[in-house]
Amino acid sequence: MDSATPNLNKPTAPVPARRRFLDYLLGTGVVTTLAAIFYPIIRFMSPPEIVEAMQNSVVAAKLNELPPNSGKIFKFGNKPGILVRTAAGELKAFSAVCTHLDCIVQYRSETKQIWCACHNGQYNLSGQNIGGPPPRPLEEFTVNTRGDDIIVTRA
Ligand code: FES
Repeated sequence: MDSATPNLNKPTAPVPARRRFLDYLLGTGVVTTLAAIFYPIIRFMSPPEIVEAMQNSVVAAKLNELPPNSGKIFKFGNKPGILVRTAAGELKAFSAVCTHLDCIVQYRSETKQIWCACHNGQYNLSGQNIGGPPPRPLEEFTVNTRGDDIIVTRA
């Protein structure tokens, strides 16, 4: 055997600690980069189930939160609802999404109406469109009380 031919039986030299450390850094960097790229894509492809959107009833408010002749916007699934306590004390609930262009309506105690500020749409306390551009009444919900809770249910 001449001296130019490498001896394959000779044990290889141990990898220096500095090189192992650099390999470790490079490996973890690649793994982290791949995770940063693919995790959002995977999460986007399998969005979480939206339980709220399927809710059929919700505790919209407490009785003491809503004095007569007042209203409150509440979250009903993924849409807003409006709960109104009339001057006579009756509880009413509707979808708070205006039937014109989907603005959120509000209760106006001075006029005792539900009002849409976007284009001056008006609804009476039965949810009927009575003025402005809204083409249809508001969707009405059923209201019940249980103890101090005001419970709104989709019909
Ligand atoms: S969006 Fe309500 S009146 Fe136009």
